[in-house]
Amino acid sequence: MSFNTIDINKQRQDLSSYDDVWLFGYGSLIYKVDFPYIQKRSAYIRGWNRKFWQGSHDHRGTPQSPGRVVTLVEAQSTKKCFGVAYRVRPDVFEHLDHREKNGYLRYEVNLHFLDSDAGCTKGIVYIADPDNAAFLGDASIQEIANQIHHSKGPSGPNREYAIKLAQALEELGFDDQHVKSINQHLQNLEQ
Ligand code: SIN
Repeated sequence: MSFNTIDINKQRQDLSSYDDVWLFGYGSLIYKVDFPYIQKRSAYIRGWNRKFWQGSHDHRGTPQSPGRVVTLVEAQSTKKCFGVAYRVRPDVFEHLDHREKNGYLRYEVNLHFLDSDAGCTKGIVYIADPDNAAFLGDASIQEIANQIHHSKGPSGPNREYAIKLAQALEELGFDDQHVKSINQHLQNLEQ
């Protein structure tokens, strides 16, 4: 698959007939909200694990020296991935498709809101699959932290991404051991 997913994402769902759409963010979409939204709610999706397994060539690294950013990796159906849901106008996806273009595809998922137990709502999430050209996959926590420590790209240092994500998850009260351990290693590297 090519790196740039803009055209594929446009064809995946035609959202133009909707008044609004729920977007689920689990990575930088939690702390860097550079798009308008109507409503914001804490939420989770089932069956996915957040992992620093996606290469970043355009934001937190370069094609020669990619950084590492999060994607979702399939997990047991009972596993919950916590994040933030935004109710947005469909035209916001123009901007989001550009921002998430390096390998992320839009998927439809069932969102569960934390402030309500009234079933689930359909939403859209951006996931970088293992078959996308920028996918890096698993590595030890030490290796991932080292790569993040040394990488930077047009959006800034890779460690800023990791630190801001860890801080945002903590503020929201979400416990993510993978994100926490990488940040612990990053702190050790900076001492
Ligand atoms: C997301 O935040 O939901 C997608 C991954 C990212 O942009 O960091």
